[in-house]
Amino acid sequence: MPSTKFAVPESYRYQNGFNSYHETEAVEGALPVGTNSPQQPPYGLYAEKLSGTAFTAPRAENLQSWLYRILPASAHTNFEPREHATFNTNPENKPHEKIHQIPNQLRWDPFDLDESVDWVHSLHLLAGAGNPTMKSGIGIYIYAAGKDMNEREAFYSADGDFLIVPQHGVLDVQTELGKLLVRPNEICVIPRGVRYRVTLPQGPVRGYILELYQGHFQLPELGPIGSNGLANARDFQAPVAHFDEDTASEWTLLSKFAGHLFAAKQTHTPFDIVAWHGTYYPYKYDLGRFNTIGSVSFDHPDPSIYTVLTAQSDHPGTAVADFVIFPPRWLVAEDTFRPPWYHRNTMSEFMGLVTGQYDAKIGGGFQPAGASLHNVMAAHGPDAATHAAASAAALKPQKVGEGSLAFMFESCLMVGVTEWGLSKCRKVQADYNAESWEPLKPRFKRPTPAAVRVDEGSK
Ligand SMILES: [Fe+2]
Repeated sequence: MPSTKFAVPESYRYQNGFNSYHETEAVEGALPVGTNSPQQPPYGLYAEKLSGTAFTAPRAENLQSWLYRILPASAHTNFEPREHATFNTNPENKPHEKIHQIPNQLRWDPFDLDESVDWVHSLHLLAGAGNPTMKSGIGIYIYAAGKDMNEREAFYSADGDFLIVPQHGVLDVQTELGKLLVRPNEICVIPRGVRYRVTLPQGPVRGYILELYQGHFQLPELGPIGSNGLANARDFQAPVAHFDEDTASEWTLLSKFAGHLFAAKQTHTPFDIVAWHGTYYPYKYDLGRFNTIGSVSFDHPDPSIYTVLTAQSDHPGTAVADFVIFPPRWLVAEDTFRPPWYHRNTMSEFMGLVTGQYDAKIGGGFQPAGASLHNVMAAHGPDAATHAAASAAALKPQKVGEGSLAFMFESCLMVGVTEWGLSKCRKVQADYNAESWEPLKPRFKRPTPAAVRVDEGSK
């Protein structure tokens, strides 16, 4: 710390800042000065606008970028449906793709690697809520791929922003706006509509995705924490402009649209943006740079203190999606049960583990590449082994989470589980409760009769 020592070195340059107005040009003079759409943009480029919010969204929320490219994004054939046996991202409530709303606590064994598919065909909708056609809700995906996308293929989702959490392997993401290298312990966000191609320079990859059908991720408010802390704006990295020249080859453009896959052809590369400026762009963030804050007296704060990014509902303070991490940190609280308390929440909690062991679950059932879902009002907390250990532990300063990264997608929505998530993936642990909480023993000892008194109210 304060930044991750990655095994795979960085390949690209970036510009830093969250929610910043960026501008970048791969050829000097490609950005028009003082105007967005001149009659003749520099060097014969086409000007194109990419909007991530309504034009009239309030300034603080408004996300728009101007792109200067060799050919406009619209120059392609009609899209045709291209469903695929392994493409399973349809969130609609079809009889054969039913979303199961169940109150059980769920936990999954590690999801399998699959070297037979590329990024697009590796996306498996595991759970979700809402519907992209209403721009409402979220989708939670597991990806596991072993092949590069075809050399002349690009993909975009019209349904929402992808927040990608790599668990295994390295993603080399060429986007229209530039290139990103994304490694485990980093995350990236690819906004709705941005076209990209994923290659796998280190072989097979696996990880988690939260797709946000509504709004965009923001940094959480800091309140009394002050002006710095948690994820700092300067540590978010956006790509610099990078373009290819290819107006002779046939390209395939894949679109995820309302959960279905469509394909169109075009005779030029989509990666032809020579310069861009604006506020709507992909970005990545090294989770090792997260400035973790916690208790230095007693008790521990709600886990919202570990929020990296949040997407607010229409009710401020209530998130459609929070991305929360449990990073390495010191526990120093006195007279405190240090793991999370037992709880039932109105929010739903989906957890994943990138590496190591999560300090609230030492029983061994929550493994890297696995997951758990504690839905609305699903009771949970430390497993019996963790409770026993933490109740008797000497409360010396203790570093937890070293070499570990657990995370949570938390949502105010009730999260349903797909047929794939509940049965086809064959990873659901039938004995989750039996292993975690059913072994808990009563610890209550009624006081001796002399000590019993009638309730006199609180003192
Ligand atoms: Fe929880």
